Amino acid sequence: MSVVQSVTGAAAGGPCPAPRFGDGRDWWFRRRFGLFVHWGLYAIPGWHEQHQWRRRVPREQYAALARAWNPVRFEPDAWLDLAEEAGMGYICLTTKHHDGFCLFESRHTDYHSVNTPYGRDVVRLLAEACHRRDFPLCLYYSIADWHHPNYPNQGRHHELPPQPGDAPDLAKYIAYLKAQVRELCTQYGVIHGVWWDMNVDRHVDPSVNAMIRELQPLAVINNRGYDEGDFGTPERDYEKGQDVPLRFERRTEACQSVGLESWGYREQEDYYTDRHLLRSIDGYLARDANYLLNVGPMADGTIPAEAAAILRRIGAWYQGVSEAFEGTVPASHLTANRSVLLTRRGSTLYVHLTKDPVAQAVKLKPIRTAPRRAVLLNTGAPVEWTVDMAPSDHTEQGAFLRLVRLPVNELANTVLVVKLEFDQPLDDTAAAHGDETDLRKR
Ligand code: GLC
Repeated sequence: MSVVQSVTGAAAGGPCPAPRFGDGRDWWFRRRFGLFVHWGLYAIPGWHEQHQWRRRVPREQYAALARAWNPVRFEPDAWLDLAEEAGMGYICLTTKHHDGFCLFESRHTDYHSVNTPYGRDVVRLLAEACHRRDFPLCLYYSIADWHHPNYPNQGRHHELPPQPGDAPDLAKYIAYLKAQVRELCTQYGVIHGVWWDMNVDRHVDPSVNAMIRELQPLAVINNRGYDEGDFGTPERDYEKGQDVPLRFERRTEACQSVGLESWGYREQEDYYTDRHLLRSIDGYLARDANYLLNVGPMADGTIPAEAAAILRRIGAWYQGVSEAFEGTVPASHLTANRSVLLTRRGSTLYVHLTKDPVAQAVKLKPIRTAPRRAVLLNTGAPVEWTVDMAPSDHTEQGAFLRLVRLPVNELANTVLVVKLEFDQPLDDTAAAHGDETDLRKR
């Protein structure tokens, strides 16, 4: 499902970050980067999380996979260690995907992980590990359900055709869904979020989120449920074919998988390049969105080596540049250069080379102010800069700030982020007019 965001025009004025909640849910603005985990029976065939639907597997045949569910190498702390190593601040697990199989013990179905050779409640194991280290846990729950007889499977997108013996009844299904979400919100201690997916018939029922808010006041809720929730959830490459805003007006959490084809474990996965993922992550975070990066653990409970290696490499980048995202606001409007994104905190400005740099220099026109210090966050090395008139700026006859001799060839597979410290915060007027005394080349 691709969700089009409400956007501001590129010429919009100063930064106006998406409104904060003003309560305990504000943890979500401090932890900008999270780990998404798609895990379920589909990890056994290892093809795609929608194996049952996309390969037209008869329901009972698919459900038989539960008899083989035995992830003996599942160690929740290993997942969390990896997430922390990647600089991530929260985790979101698929407690029930479209196939209807639950990773938690439920009184309302027997299609769950305790009724398998494994015999354990996966959500409980993960929740306990999260609580031990105060790591926020969010729970994904699919509204579409290919197993429950009351879910009205009508053959629409992400739905089975009507199944013999089913008793489609939306009201009964919602009662089931609410009872399960109540279990999730009452049996595992503090929960930091509920992540709905696939409300195929776009049904509206605010009582569901209201129940979550009452039971779990720290929980942030996404917009794919029965009402608008707290934030939007664009997925994968939202930039394709759209006007890209300089910042998100509404709270946003993008999500993306490390693999091109699947969110669940796929044995033959075609993994994205680091470069692609880093551009995507930087492009969202610098626009004030959060980012959930997904992996699909294997049937034995371990995260595939290649996916783990990707997380580690991305983490090494994120740890180096995270100060450009945490506690900052988008500030891309300060420059006319649409090849970069800007964020800022007080008098510190961060320049993100989110797009493939075409040269060693970055022009920051119309900024004319000289920075006190310029550092490449990726390496800690100083960055050279100049405030002078480039030949291509002859029509303005003005001098503008330019970062020069950046190591764009040496560091071609990453996103460079430059930290510029000024004596004073740049405001729109200062950026436009500058101060002549700053024009000395330092
Ligand atoms: C899409 C996919 C679903 C996946 C989700 C994650 O909705 O259909 O399988 O869980 O994206 O955002």
